[in-house]
Amino acid sequence: MSETLLYVSKIRNGTVIDHITGGLALDVVKILGITRLEKKVITVAINVPSKLFKRKDIVKIEGRELNPQEVHRIALLAPHATINIIRDYKVVEKQMVKLPKLIEDIIECSNPACISNSNEPVEAKFYVESEDPLLLKCYYCGHIIEKKDVLQQF
Ligand code: CTP
Ligand code: ZN
Repeated sequence: MSETLLYVSKIRNGTVIDHITGGLALDVVKILGITRLEKKVITVAINVPSKLFKRKDIVKIEGRELNPQEVHRIALLAPHATINIIRDYKVVEKQMVKLPKLIEDIIECSNPACISNSNEPVEAKFYVESEDPLLLKCYYCGHIIEKKDVLQQF
């Protein structure tokens, strides 16, 4: 039996984001766009003891599965997270988050002079230089983006 059962109960249908780096659950909630207007049941557990990482956070979202863009956003912040899809109380799918080599459609370059911030029809994209600690390099201007820059954008 998983130790986390002592802290939060199981869900019937939805998504469990497990093994989030300890302390980052609220940032995960934020980048998923969950606000005070949210109607779904969300459970957040922070600093749960974990065998793997000493402490971890968990976010459970009832009645909703994540799209690929949301999974990539989570991977930016919590590269060791596991996404579990739950249907009828069973884990039907377990996915370790993974960043693609090139990130396209998620974040903006923080260099104001970058062509992706001009009036040209050029969308920002980044090479993933390192996942942990996060280092993204702008495809166009070479500007480096870190986790704190990503957090500022959400
Ligand atoms: N979970 C849940 N509701 C369910 C089933 C599972 O909230 N109906 C949660 C578990 O509490 C756990 C995660 O989903 O946090 C993954 O479940 P499971 O694969 O059963 O746990 P572990 O084997 O501990 O997962 P892992 O091997 O990924 O550590
Ligand atoms: Zn740039």
